[in-house]
Amino acid sequence: MDRDDARTFSYGSTSSATAVAEQPQGDMADKGKPVLVTGAAGLVGIHTCRELTRAGWKVRALVRDPEKAVIALGQVPVDFRVGDVRDAAKVRAALRGCGAIVHLAAIAIERKGEHYSDTNTAATDLLIEAARLENVERLIFMSQNGAASKSPYSFLRSKGMAQDAVMNSGLKWTVLRPSVIFGAEDAFVNVLGRMIRLSPGVFPLPGGGTARFQPIAVDDVARVVRLCLEKRETIGRTYQLGGSIPLTLRQMTERILAAMGTSRRLVSVPVSAMKPLIALAEKLLPNPPVTSSLLDLLALDNTVPENALTEVFGIVPVPFAADELHYLHGITAGSAFKSMMQRHRPG
Ligand SMILES: NC(=O)c1ccc[n+]([C@@H]2O[C@H](COP(=O)([O-])OP(=O)(O)OC[C@H]3O[C@@H](n4cnc5c(N)ncnc54)[C@H](OP(=O)(O)O)[C@@H]3O)[C@@H](O)[C@H]2O)c1
Repeated sequence: MDRDDARTFSYGSTSSATAVAEQPQGDMADKGKPVLVTGAAGLVGIHTCRELTRAGWKVRALVRDPEKAVIALGQVPVDFRVGDVRDAAKVRAALRGCGAIVHLAAIAIERKGEHYSDTNTAATDLLIEAARLENVERLIFMSQNGAASKSPYSFLRSKGMAQDAVMNSGLKWTVLRPSVIFGAEDAFVNVLGRMIRLSPGVFPLPGGGTARFQPIAVDDVARVVRLCLEKRETIGRTYQLGGSIPLTLRQMTERILAAMGTSRRLVSVPVSAMKPLIALAEKLLPNPPVTSSLLDLLALDNTVPENALTEVFGIVPVPFAADELHYLHGITAGSAFKSMMQRHRPG
């Protein structure tokens, strides 16, 4: 895309935006103050902290497990704050003196003591209130393609309700709605890779693997987060983000198999037939790879017909190709089994 292109694009019901490609900066949030990144030790968090610090932003990383965070963020020069996003006092203290927030913390799987309604929805309300009290006006919120407050799916509903709260907050918000995100630390592709390694020659695809996704590389998402902080015209906008092309779950699985240098016969299994097995795995395994509520989402289309990544931000997407999935090489049957048996350790 031409970087000087200043056409106007419409995105969904809530946004229309001018192209926001990389250009000389000038409209940014206050770079002299730290940006609070919640969920900083997660997939998007790691890459966002790296992207922002490389560009000279001061980053305050809110994490709940400092040991895990130090390993995840390695040499990335961030200022750590330890706290749970459900803890209003901790969140407010972490926000003090910040100029902006990138709110990434969320859960995709409900584990013991963790609920979508608390972590994804109520914690976003707390954060908004804390931002008002601490006069932090700028908020980038990582929503999810498909998130909607009326969604029949509890995860998408929790994210949709949080998104509504952000958009009604009166703050200077930007909402990002990516399709599935891939990168070395991702859950989605790594889980598929682990299940492939543990499968005996045949690999089941829920609903035949016909649901379509538009996988986007985590570094592309991180770049968009930075551009949002740097460009005033992204305030009050909602952007759908996806990779270069839609791929069915079957096509994604074929690329994952190629990256892993292995093969499996892909067989179609109705979602309803997989449910009892997944429910059993949820009961038996400390860290089940998929839950019943996520299984439903594997059969839902998750594409972005109007892709702001290319059309607004002018970014050429990293393709979902075997070469980009080299991180799957390290998955062995042993490591896949160990991962399922390892108890998740929230802080
Ligand atoms: N990954 C995708 O495919 C995808 C697609 C679209 C949108 N998104 C959205 O992008 C955001 C980031 O996702 P991600 O893929 O980076 O997820 P992730 O790797 O699971 O990271 C989420 C982070 O949130 C933290 N967190 C969860 N509950 C918390 C709590 N109560 N207090 C403090 N921190 C908490 C986690 O901490 P621990 O490290 O301690 O667990 C983790 O570091 C989420 O809002 C997600 O909904 C993700």
